[in-house]
Amino acid sequence: MSKPIYLDYNATTPIAPEVVAEMQPWFDTNFGNSSSAYAFGRTSKEAIYKARKQVASLINAAPEEIVFTSCATESNNLAIHGFILANKDKGKHIITSAVEHPAVIEVCKYLTTLGYEITYLPVDAFGRVNPVDVEKAIRHDTALITIMHANNEVGTIQPISEIATIAKKNQVAFHTDAAQSLAKIEVDVQQLGVDLLTIAGHKLYAPKGIGALYIRQGVKIENLIHGASQEKGIRPGTENVPFIVGLGKACELAQQHLSTNSKHLSSLRDQLLRGLQEKLGTTVKFNADLTNCLPNTLSVAFEKVEAHTLASIIEKEVSISTGSACHANSVEISSVLKAMNINRLTAASTVRISVGKPTTEEEIDRVIAIITNAVSQLKK
Ligand SMILES: Cc1ncc(COP(=O)(O)O)c(C=O)c1O
Repeated sequence: MSKPIYLDYNATTPIAPEVVAEMQPWFDTNFGNSSSAYAFGRTSKEAIYKARKQVASLINAAPEEIVFTSCATESNNLAIHGFILANKDKGKHIITSAVEHPAVIEVCKYLTTLGYEITYLPVDAFGRVNPVDVEKAIRHDTALITIMHANNEVGTIQPISEIATIAKKNQVAFHTDAAQSLAKIEVDVQQLGVDLLTIAGHKLYAPKGIGALYIRQGVKIENLIHGASQEKGIRPGTENVPFIVGLGKACELAQQHLSTNSKHLSSLRDQLLRGLQEKLGTTVKFNADLTNCLPNTLSVAFEKVEAHTLASIIEKEVSISTGSACHANSVEISSVLKAMNINRLTAASTVRISVGKPTTEEEIDRVIAIITNAVSQLKK
């Protein structure tokens, strides 16, 4: 039996063949510890520096501003908790949004146990934060603002540079979680004006288990784990050279092909959208403003169709995720859709379809037919 068509690239991506090839020698031939003073060590150290330059170049940063971590969750923890620990004098208030990933929300929740107060900014019907709300929320004791670049469920892009201008004016540091936006849209830390930015390997065709944090020069971060002096002591532990090399290569490819990839993604996403609209008419509802959305993401509700039932009946043919979590006797609506004020029924009918680099037009045609067929069956 053939494999299902994978349309959940926001969950994770396969490793690009060029990335696999680049990583290969670092598993066996070049296995040295980068802290060793002899040739084996130096070779690894040089490879790490090359990758640091590749990652930095993708986001228009300096190599010295990149710290390698194990994932976006770790980068978010290091950015938020690490900043708070290093800047205790700046106050006990943090501003975030109601649509962040748990890798931000849970860090903020944890910090309340250390006496921090968190403001969760509301979003509009498309999941967008209003910069005016950010300005209003800033207090004399606001230490940090953390607002994601693009949302993982609905794809909405936040007005990061406008928020950064406000943050700067008020001398408050600003972190953004760019796990979903990198390699899909332009991410330039100078244009965005952020102080800290989270990178996730496995969302951009590098392996799972590698990430990075951009730390603008001069921004103080305290390490959360303690050990030797790797990554300037901010993230000690012997470096995972093959994965770091892989992340570097994936960033290089992302930079080289950004505009082609982005066009490819939006063309497939639009083909899907048009196809569903043509076949299902007004019974299909899109949850985001597609002019301000990641090019690959479609959050879509099918009227009177339960998303979990839909996803499970097409599961053998297509892999997509739903906008809610199914528990024993109830459906828990996603906090993102809740924050967007999407009613329960629509939220329970919402699926997330996210296309990727390997997706083809033929696959999209096939998926339109499969979904349309399943939706008609479920409505009978
Ligand atoms: C926006 C965002 N931030 C953080 C993460 C966490 O990534 P990881 O599980 O690789 O740490 C994800 C993963 O889905 C994400 O979409």
